[in-house]
Parts: sequence; structure tokens; C-alpha cells
Amino acid sequence: MKLENERILVTGGAGFIGSELCARLLARGNEVVCFDNFSSGKEEFIAPMMKNKKFKLIRGDMLKPAEVARALGGCRAVIHLAANPDVRLGQSDTRVHFEQNVVATFNLLEAMKAGGQEHIVFASSSVVYGAAKVMPTPEGYGPLLPVSLYGASKLACEAMVSAYSDNFGFSATLLRYANVIGRHAHGVTRDFRMKLEKDPSRLEILGDGTQTKSYLHVSDCVEATILAAENTEKVEAFNVGSEDKLNVKDIADIVSGEMGLRGVKYEFTGGQAWKGDIRLMLLSIEKMGKLGWKPRMGSREAVQKAVREMLGKE
Ligand SMILES: NC(=O)c1ccc[n+]([C@@H]2O[C@H](COP(=O)([O-])OP(=O)(O)OC[C@H]3O[C@@H](n4cnc5c(N)ncnc54)[C@H](O)[C@@H]3O)[C@@H](O)[C@H]2O)c1
Repeated sequence: MKLENERILVTGGAGFIGSELCARLLARGNEVVCFDNFSSGKEEFIAPMMKNKKFKLIRGDMLKPAEVARALGGCRAVIHLAANPDVRLGQSDTRVHFEQNVVATFNLLEAMKAGGQEHIVFASSSVVYGAAKVMPTPEGYGPLLPVSLYGASKLACEAMVSAYSDNFGFSATLLRYANVIGRHAHGVTRDFRMKLEKDPSRLEILGDGTQTKSYLHVSDCVEATILAAENTEKVEAFNVGSEDKLNVKDIADIVSGEMGLRGVKYEFTGGQAWKGDIRLMLLSIEKMGKLGWKPRMGSREAVQKAVREMLGKE
């Protein structure tokens, strides 16, 4: 369905990707209902939209079914981004991704069963592929064997979204995002910046620095999200990433360089960065390409832009 002049629920709309997506949907004439519990979302991310009459903020929790059902009122489509996206957390807290991702998605789907919505977009992740043996990895790759509890939760959600959509008559877009970065991104760029602000002479890098992944700027991610949603008939999975990849040491060079630091001593912890980390990730984006989408930035450019934005240079 066309995401124009509609009323759309964005769960996790006050988060990093969510806030950018809400702004884009408003610019397309939609009414946007942003549902968020601000566990990682921030008021400052949505502040520019608060005065827009077409933007409605609901503070609510995905784990409270009645609040989710209320938020859906009058919405024809849902973009479901609310989740706990902290992959590493699964090592120490084995419940969080089950509750915040799987149960939260179940609550949304249950509410949609009776809500009359026509479409759901689910923010999945490249981590559903686990340590894939085919690069770039196409959507049809299998078996899907995630190596993190976060990845397992995303795969479980994909399965639920697919089955609910088939049983209860709405269409569904499953988006397997690569690493998305931008001004408000969490993850490696923010981590490096914070460490370097504390001590500009040295930088601890988890692993051996050769982990190599695809990075996508959030502006490209948002465009792909809308285009894929508008081109889904029943249930479709799409990879959303850049065409190339970048290693962690290169990212350290970009962050320290943009911060104006020279001679930073890199201290690698060695081996796998953490249990559940993927060493190599590159997605085949041919399927999105057939819809006419192409990321405007490659991985290096995207990281560079995100770091400059984060530092207030852009
Ligand atoms: N950023 C990436 O690189 C990336 C990559 C792959 C997939 N994703 C997925 O995209 C989505 C958005 O990611 P993001 O990077 O913007 O993360 P984020 O943490 O900035 O956004 C998640 C939002 O969901 C909200 N939220 C969490 N639990 C909630 C709950 N129980 N009830 C209501 N709101 C809740 C948070 O407050 C936050 O605003 C997530 O589903 C994430 O798993 C992100």
C-alpha cells in the first residue's frame, strides 16, 4: 500500500531509526502515531515534530497489550521498530530479547488481528543469517541459524509476522537491515567516540579489528523501508544494506581522524569481539535494486557522514 496520506503507527518512533522515519512519513503527508516507552528513544529526537498537528506521540509500553491496541486505533499500517537492539546484552540477560522483541511483537500482532490494519513492516536484521557462508547473502539463504539471542528473537518475530499475516489477512514486509548509522546511532561509532573523549591517547577495540560489515546511512534506510513496504503484495523479506563493507579498524581511523586526533594507540582485545558477534556481513541487495532502490552512500561514506553528524560538523 502507498504510504501517503495515511494514518501510520510507528512503534519505537522516538528511537534512532524511528525518529528519522516519522519525519519522512510526515513529509509524505501521513498522520504519524509514534508509540514509544523511551527506554532508548529520546525526546530530543522527536522534538522537531512535536508541533506538527499530524504527529501524535503516545507514551506506552509494547508489553501492555491494551496500550498497544489503543495506539493502533484508526491506523491502516504499522511500522514496528520497537525492540531492544543491544545484541551484546543477550550474553548477560537471556530474557530481554525474548520479552522486548518476541513478546512485544506478539502483543502487536494480537492487537492487529482485531484492529483491521492492512500492512505491517517489521524491522528485522542481517543477524538472522548467523555466520552465513554465502557473501553477499541473498534473502533466500538458509538454513537461518542465528548466533546471538537478539538474532534468534528477530527470526522468531519474522516467523510470527509471516504466519499472522497469512492467517489474519494483512500483508507484511520483513526488512533485514545491515548496520544502520547516523547522527543518533548507537553501536561502534558512538562507542569509539565516547572512549576517545575519555582518553584521546588510546582506544580499546573489541576483537582484532578485522570484523568487516556493511554500513548503511539512516537516510538510505528510511527510503528503502518505505519503498519496500509499498511494493509488498503478501509477505516479502528484503535485505537493506550497502553494496560494500568496512572493517572496524577503518571505522576507528575515521572516528579518530574526524575528532582531529593523531597517533591514537589501538588496543585490540583479540579474537571474536564478543560471543554472538558476526565477523563478516554483506547482504545481497539485488531484490531492493529491482524496485529501483540503490543506497546513495557506500559503507565508508555512510560512516564518515554519520561521524561528522554525530560530532556536529554536518
Ligand atoms: N540500528 C541498526 O543498526 C539496526 C540494524 C538492524 C535492525 N535494527 C532494528 O531496527 C529497529 C530500530 O532500531 P534503532 O537502532 O532505531 O534502535 P533504538 O533503540 O534507537 O529504537 C528502538 C525504540 O523502541 C523503543 N522501545 C523499546 N522497547 C519498547 C517497548 N517495550 N515499548 C515501547 N517502545 C519501546 C525505544 O525507546 C526506542 O525508541 C529495532 O527493531 C532494531 O532491532 C536496527
